[in-house]
Amino acid sequence: MDSSNLEDIRPFYVMEILEKALKLQSLGRDIVHLEIGEPTENVDNLIVDSAQNALNNKLYRYTNSFGIETLREKISQYYEKVHNTLVSKERIMITTGSSAGIVLAVLASTSINDEVIVVEPHYPCYPQILKILGRIPRVFTTYEKDNFQINIDKLQDSISQNTTSIIINSPSNPTSVSQNQDVLKSISRLNLNIISDEIYHGLSFNSKTNSIIEFASKNSFIVNGFSKLYAMTGWRLGYIVIPSDKVRSVQKLQQNMFICAPTISQHAAVSAYNIKNKVQKNILKSYEQKRDFALRFLNEMGIKVNYTPDAAFYILCNFQDYCESSLDLCKDLLDKVGLAVAPGIDFGENYKKYVRISYAGSMEELQKGLMLLKEYMLKYK
Ligand SMILES: Cc1ncc(COP(=O)(O)O)c(C=O)c1O
Repeated sequence: MDSSNLEDIRPFYVMEILEKALKLQSLGRDIVHLEIGEPTENVDNLIVDSAQNALNNKLYRYTNSFGIETLREKISQYYEKVHNTLVSKERIMITTGSSAGIVLAVLASTSINDEVIVVEPHYPCYPQILKILGRIPRVFTTYEKDNFQINIDKLQDSISQNTTSIIINSPSNPTSVSQNQDVLKSISRLNLNIISDEIYHGLSFNSKTNSIIEFASKNSFIVNGFSKLYAMTGWRLGYIVIPSDKVRSVQKLQQNMFICAPTISQHAAVSAYNIKNKVQKNILKSYEQKRDFALRFLNEMGIKVNYTPDAAFYILCNFQDYCESSLDLCKDLLDKVGLAVAPGIDFGENYKKYVRISYAGSMEELQKGLMLLKEYMLKYK
């Protein structure tokens, strides 16, 4: 892509809503944030203490481009324990957030002008990253009536001779829905490179979520990170599991583009694996309570959510009875009642009448936000 084509890159609209909300706040307005997918849980003390130790021990120089051994070993053990799959640490690279992991995976598994399937509603950045890197995003739509499950027959029909790859995200941002095991198995049997963004793993309410690694270890890149499960958003730490035959290419990309992931964050993240199950379970329970509260509240308000979010902290709500495009509605909500939510256009053209509510913050914030939504709907809609 040459720089004149940057016009074609869309903003990350939810970031724009956040930036506007923060500006209003700095002018003294009271704003409730249900827009951003950022857990406000405290980062666990074990992690903070390890970061402090790293600082005290002057562990802040560049690391190996793959990352520190101890962290890669922990991740390897995680795949064995949770997914019953052996992943040698040589295939694991620590990245600057999972965002950099996505960029590396796209670069290493696709070529310029390749078509890459993106499942709609999708994480806003996928199509933009593909366009920036000269790849062609092909949107494949899933529907609320199907609980946002990928229809494999239709997916197969959508593959053209230029389609080489697919990006999947389960559990998903913005739906918080996981693809069921059969869907993942079927995707693994398609003749496509797979990039599986699993950043919401560990945040499922019902049962363990399957990783694509269980079905397609050879041709899939797994992207994961510490931003959501461990609330480490600003620490900029993620990782990828790389197919064996791509390890050397990714190493060269990382060396040239990022050198290595943030060193202090890497040392701190080793301790994430020592956090007690009970602590993580309590966080999960509180997300589930917030989800149940929000679904009840929305239903009572007449905003029907006809699917079941089963993980993480998002609800994608249909506002087609109230707007042509929810971007204007989101801006108006912010202006009139001080509520920030995410506009559906971020997640794909077919979802522009939807709004995403994030309950990654506290119950109080969620309750306040939903009351403001109710007030707005009664007064203005
Ligand atoms: C699906 C998905 N992938 C990747 C990211 C980026 O995460 P990170 O902070 O690890 O770069 C996000 C952040 O919201 C996300 O929702």
